[in-house]
Amino acid sequence: MRIDILTLFPEVFGPFFSTSIVGRAVAAGLLLPRMVDFREFTRDRHRKVDDRPFGGGPGMVIQCEPVFGAVEAVERSAAGNPMRILLTPQGEPLTQQVVEELAWWDWLILLCGHYEGFDERVRTGLNPREISIGDYVLSGGEPAAMVLIDAVVRLLPGSLGDQMSAVDETFSSGLLEYPQYTRPREYRGMHAPEILLSGDHQRIAAWRRQQAMERTRQRRPDLLNPQDAGREDTDAS
Ligand code: ADE
Repeated sequence: MRIDILTLFPEVFGPFFSTSIVGRAVAAGLLLPRMVDFREFTRDRHRKVDDRPFGGGPGMVIQCEPVFGAVEAVERSAAGNPMRILLTPQGEPLTQQVVEELAWWDWLILLCGHYEGFDERVRTGLNPREISIGDYVLSGGEPAAMVLIDAVVRLLPGSLGDQMSAVDETFSSGLLEYPQYTRPREYRGMHAPEILLSGDHQRIAAWRRQQAMERTRQRRPDLLNPQDAGREDTDAS
């Protein structure tokens, strides 16, 4: 998968692309990341990419020219059909279902904003898919891009040593994960459940299913009854 990240701060991605699962995917050639600096696409002598908002107000707005210029240059550089994504708290929530959809694409272009955001014509003119990683405001789209990339990379065939671990875990199954234990059997008076040491794989699987269900019921009942999720916000009764 090719990923172009359009940003004002390309340097923050260095360790991200060379560490852990993401680093391995890059080293194996499964992931081809490229950072593109908006400042390379401004005609301003001082490489300025933002300006004050029309109508007044606080903050600065990223101008159209460097953004359109960067997207068009990236898309001209290769044949293909990339998905354009703009990271913004105004976007659709990033869920495992969205992540699974993105993992099918072979080319993503991620637009990371800063300041008070992009000139609205970036949205109307480039028509990116807008994605939010949660209901809070970051100072820039870069950490959101890393979250999205990390979640997508784990689904690329060959990126995890053990392919089962992507299938069994929280959210792919619709349930939270069951508790895990490793050696020693006892630590500070706390014991690993006997059943996990029993060698009876059928009973272990049943125990794990039951634990996952119980944990989900207690912590995230909305995952078991998606039709009820958010009802307290909309239902006045
Ligand atoms: N940029 C700033 N805040 C964000 C968020 N919550 N999700 C995605 N991009 C963002």
